[in-house]
Amino acid sequence: MENQTSNIEILIPERLAFWGELVDLPLAAIAALQAMAMLVRQDAVLSAAFEDFYEKTVLRGEWHREWSPVPIDPEVASRCGESVSLYQFLGYLSALPHTWEHYQRLGIELEVFKATMLDLRFYLQDYFDQHATWGYDRFGWIWRHLTVELFRLGRLQYMLMPFSGGVRALRRKPGATPEETPPSTVLLADPDLPLREDGYAWGAGRPKRSDIPPESESTWRPSFDAQPEGWRGHLVSPHGRVQREPTWLSVTDWELILDPGDTIIDMHIPRSDALNSDTCGSSYAQALKFFAKIFPDRPSKALYCHTWIFSPQLQEFLPQTSNLVKFQREFYLYPHPGTPGYLWSFVFGDHQAPAGAPRDTSLRRAVLDCLEGDGEIFDLPGLMFHAPDAWGTQPYMGLR
Ligand SMILES: CC(C)(COP(=O)(O)OP(=O)(O)OC[C@H]1O[C@@H](n2cnc3c(N)ncnc32)[C@H](O)[C@@H]1OP(=O)(O)O)[C@@H](O)C(=O)NCCC(=O)NCCS
Repeated sequence: MENQTSNIEILIPERLAFWGELVDLPLAAIAALQAMAMLVRQDAVLSAAFEDFYEKTVLRGEWHREWSPVPIDPEVASRCGESVSLYQFLGYLSALPHTWEHYQRLGIELEVFKATMLDLRFYLQDYFDQHATWGYDRFGWIWRHLTVELFRLGRLQYMLMPFSGGVRALRRKPGATPEETPPSTVLLADPDLPLREDGYAWGAGRPKRSDIPPESESTWRPSFDAQPEGWRGHLVSPHGRVQREPTWLSVTDWELILDPGDTIIDMHIPRSDALNSDTCGSSYAQALKFFAKIFPDRPSKALYCHTWIFSPQLQEFLPQTSNLVKFQREFYLYPHPGTPGYLWSFVFGDHQAPAGAPRDTSLRRAVLDCLEGDGEIFDLPGLMFHAPDAWGTQPYMGLR
């Protein structure tokens, strides 16, 4: 029996094959999705729920923008059984024709669309490799691609966002004195973030965010004061620690280049080949050109990234020549109450604990030695203000 879902393009077998092939899904996965589409068309409960999802999410744009699981009707879940995430994935794929239409309205090339949508295939294949059945578990990530907010441009992925950090960035004006210290770009600490005695964030390195102990006598907060004549605040070292003594930066010599809420480019690192300065620099150059052309009314102030790769401990774990260390040293890090969990999930995947975890790379061995020896690991966010062609110069930490 035909129903309203017949208007949804992705439920038509040939159209599903077209979109699936365009975004490079494995043929076996397309066949599994076609079988699911058939089930949806034939089952009144599934088709009504699919239609609701399509209306609300794809047409009205009310995406589930959280990391938490996408809500699912228990009746739908029980009818789909172990294929429930494939049903949900098909729902997300129903956005593809609209996403591509939006790309065309903005004048973005098919090549960018295809490169961006590769994350559909990556995680679909990962799911199959882990569960021996087709499904998907990255709904908390993939909506950004379908809502035309995140783009893969060369090696890296980017999206425009308001800066949600509490640090301020200042740049020394040309001709200002003294020339030597402090360096030409500095961050002043977030006055609302409590800190440890050593200047890292209070709670950094705790196994979970919920384990952060109440603030104690050793906790301190930096001050920040903006005056017409300048700014008084606490300098952040490019390695992510805050100096205890405040500093005065005068408007005669300094200008504010990043404030909370300013537009930044948020960068992500998809799994792919090695990260090196040339590919990163050319990708970032592509991103600057892309955003200036497509979103000229949203000029960005800095490149921002929050990744396990900014765990400062990597500089002790790996040689200075490693791609991960060089990538980290390109950014100006600042405090955040990170946990070891971010690094752990990208370095050990589903392994639950150090006992029995593989020691087959130098990074894995160093991480396990650190955790087994009571060392700490935590991720930090970072900012970059230099031009793409200067990628590789490590202007904040200093070239090694
Ligand atoms: C980003 C990435 C390509 C870097 O790899 P790379 O260029 O090989 O990095 P390095 O040269 O610095 O590697 C140094 C060592 O660490 C190891 N290493 C790097 N990334 C690793 C990872 N994710 N898991 C385990 N070991 C890793 C390398 O194998 C190498 O080990 P070796 O000395 O035994 O040969 C890789 O980590 C990756 O593909 N990660 C997945 C995507 C990701 O993490 N994105 C960030 C999301 S926030």
